[in-house]
Amino acid sequence: MSYSYQIRTEADYRTAYQQSVEDPEKFWAAVAENFSWKKKWDKVLSWNFEEPKVEWFAGAKLNITENCIDRHLSALGDKPALIWEPNDPNERVRVVTYNRLHKRVCQFAQVLLNNGVKKGDRVCIYMGMVPELTYAVLGCARIGAIHSVVFGGFSAQSIADRLEDAKATFIVTCDGAFRGNKDIPLKSVIDDALIGNKVVKKVIVYTRTRTPVSMLKGRDVWWEDEMEHAESQVEVNGVVQQEAAVMDAEDPLFILYTSGSTGKPKGVVHTTAGYMVWTNYTFVNAFQYQPSDIHFCTADIGWITGHSYILYGPLSAGATCVMFEGIPTWPDAGRFWEIVEKHRVNILYTAPTAIRSLMGFGTTPLEGKDLSSLKVLGTVGEPINEEAWHWYNKNVGKEKCPIVDTWWQTETGGCMISNMAGVTPGIPSWASLPMPGIQPILVDEAGKEITEKDQHGHYKGNLCIKAPWPGILRTTYGDHERCRQNYFSTYPGLYFTGDGALKDQQGNFRITGRVDDVLNVSGHRLGTAEVENAINMHAGVVESAVVGYPHDIKGQGVYAYVIMDQLHEDAQLTRKNILQTVTRQIGPIAKPDKIQFVKGLPKTRSGKIMRRILRKIAEGETKNLGDTTTLLDPAIVEEIAAGRIVD
Ligand code: WT7
Repeated sequence: MSYSYQIRTEADYRTAYQQSVEDPEKFWAAVAENFSWKKKWDKVLSWNFEEPKVEWFAGAKLNITENCIDRHLSALGDKPALIWEPNDPNERVRVVTYNRLHKRVCQFAQVLLNNGVKKGDRVCIYMGMVPELTYAVLGCARIGAIHSVVFGGFSAQSIADRLEDAKATFIVTCDGAFRGNKDIPLKSVIDDALIGNKVVKKVIVYTRTRTPVSMLKGRDVWWEDEMEHAESQVEVNGVVQQEAAVMDAEDPLFILYTSGSTGKPKGVVHTTAGYMVWTNYTFVNAFQYQPSDIHFCTADIGWITGHSYILYGPLSAGATCVMFEGIPTWPDAGRFWEIVEKHRVNILYTAPTAIRSLMGFGTTPLEGKDLSSLKVLGTVGEPINEEAWHWYNKNVGKEKCPIVDTWWQTETGGCMISNMAGVTPGIPSWASLPMPGIQPILVDEAGKEITEKDQHGHYKGNLCIKAPWPGILRTTYGDHERCRQNYFSTYPGLYFTGDGALKDQQGNFRITGRVDDVLNVSGHRLGTAEVENAINMHAGVVESAVVGYPHDIKGQGVYAYVIMDQLHEDAQLTRKNILQTVTRQIGPIAKPDKIQFVKGLPKTRSGKIMRRILRKIAEGETKNLGDTTTLLDPAIVEEIAAGRIVD
C-alpha cells in the first residue's frame, strides 16, 4: 500500500493545504485514487449549505469493508488488524489478523442476512469492547445495513429513545461487559429498553461475561449458534467468500447519536465514500502513520473517535490497532503503560481527562515501564490544559514524541484542526493548524468575520467552517431540518461548530470550549437540557437548571440548581433519588457532581433562565455577576450565591 498523499514536511503541508483550498475537487480526486472503487465517481463534490446538501464522489460505487479488509489480504493477510487486550490482564490476548477479520466479518454479514437484515436497515449495536463488536459493525457495512453503536454506559431509556428515533429493527449485544471490576449486564439493559417495543425483530447476543440472561423465544438468538451456521455458508473448500453489497458513495454508513442544546440527542448521519476518504487521510497524516506502526486509540467504539480511529481510518490504511476492553485505572493506574510496553505501541491516542486522572496517581505507575516504542502521542475530546500537556510530554513521551492535539466532532467524522506529528509544530493547548480541505473562520455573534485582534494579538470568535470536507455530516437521521437549524442556520453559508476559538497571527487555533448549551464532561458531550429533563422526571423536582463548571479531572463538572417540591423536604433523599433518576434516564456519565437546592432561579421577565449568572456562581464567582436588573427577582441571585456548593 502506498500513501502517495502522505505529508512529510511542513512545506508539503503548505502545498497540500493550498491545493485543497484552490481546487478541492482536483485535490480530493487525487486522494481518492488510493482506494478501491467498483465504479469511479461522476462528480467529486457538489454542495450548498442552505439546504444543506453535500455530495462527495457522487455516482461512485464501493464497499467500505473491501477497502478496510479485502484489498489488504494479498499483501497483509497475516498482519494483525486488531490486537485485543482484555479487561483482565491475566486473560489471553486475542490477535485478529486481516485474514481472520475478513472471515469473521463475512460470517457475521451472513448472519445478518440469515436473520432478515436488509440494505438500509438500522442495526443498533450495544456491546462491550470485544473483537466481536468490530465484526458486528463491519458486518453491517458489508451488507449495507446502517449501524448505530450505542455506548455501553447508556441506560435502557436512552437506548429506547435511540431505537425509536432510528427505527432500528435489529440489535446486536452481549450478555454483559467487563469494565474494571464491574460486570455490566448489557442484555438485561436491552430487555428493559425493549419493553413495549414492537419494531425490533431480532436480538443477537454474544457471550462474554456468562452473566445469566433471559432469551425471548423467536426474538433472541445466540451469536455463537448463528456464526457457526454461517461459517459453512461463507467458507467453501477453505475459501471465504461473501459478496459485499455495492454501495453508492452517498449511501448512509452509520448513525451515531450525540447531544446538542435541545433535550433530545440527534442521530448524526455519515455516508460511505467521503467518510472513508476523510478518516483514512486524517489518520495517515495527523499521526504520521507508517505501515509497521502499532496504533492504540483508547476510546470506546461507542463514540466517534472509536469509529474513525480504531476502525475505519486505521483499517482502511492496513494498520494494526490495539483494542482495549478495560479502563485506564484497573487493576491499577499503570494499565495503559503496561499495554504500551506489552504490545510495543507506537502511536498512543487518548483523552485529556484520562491523562489528568492518571496524573493524579503520580509517576510511580510509570516506573519500570518500557515506553521506548512510543513515537507519537495524541489527544482528543476537549481542550488540553498546559499542565496535562507537559505531564504527558515529559512522563509518557519522554520529551521525544510529538503530541497531536486533534480538534474535531462527531459531526466532522475526523480530525479538522490538528498539528501533524513532527511535521507542523505542536503548541501546548493549541490544536494549531487546519487539515487540508478545512477552512475555519471566526465570526462574531452577527456572523461577521473577526478582523480585530485582542490585547494578546489573538482573533477571538465563534468557530465556523466555510466549505465542506469529505467527512462532514450529511443530515440528522429522520429530521433534516434539525440538521439545518443546528449547524447551518446560525450563520448562513457557514457550518457552525458550537465552539469558541482563538487564532494567532500564524493561523494557529486554540479551542476555548463550547459556546452553546452543551457540556463536555470527561470528553463526552451532554446537553444541559437533556440533563434537566432527566432531573425534572423526579417527582420531588419542580424545576432545574444545569450548567458546567471547571472540574480538575473531568474538564467540566455538572452543576444542578434544583427547586424542590414542598412535599419532598428531605434534601439528602431527594439528592440520592435525583442521581438515580439521571442514571436511569441517561446513564451514570450524566450524574450531576453538585446539586444545590434553591428557592427560585434567576429568570428574565420573559421567563428565560439567565444561565450566565448560574455559570458564574458554579465557577465560584459570587460577586461580579453582571447586570441583574432585568431579572424578575434580583434578590434570588444573592441567595443562590450564598448557598453555592463548595468542593
Ligand atoms: C466537542 C465534540 C472528536 C471526538 C471526541 C469528541 C470538543 C474535541 C477537542 C480538542 C478542544 C475539543 C469540542 C467539540 N473537542 N476535541 N482537541 N480541543 N476541544 O467528540 O462528543 O462530538 O464532541 O469536543 O468542544 O465541539 P464530540
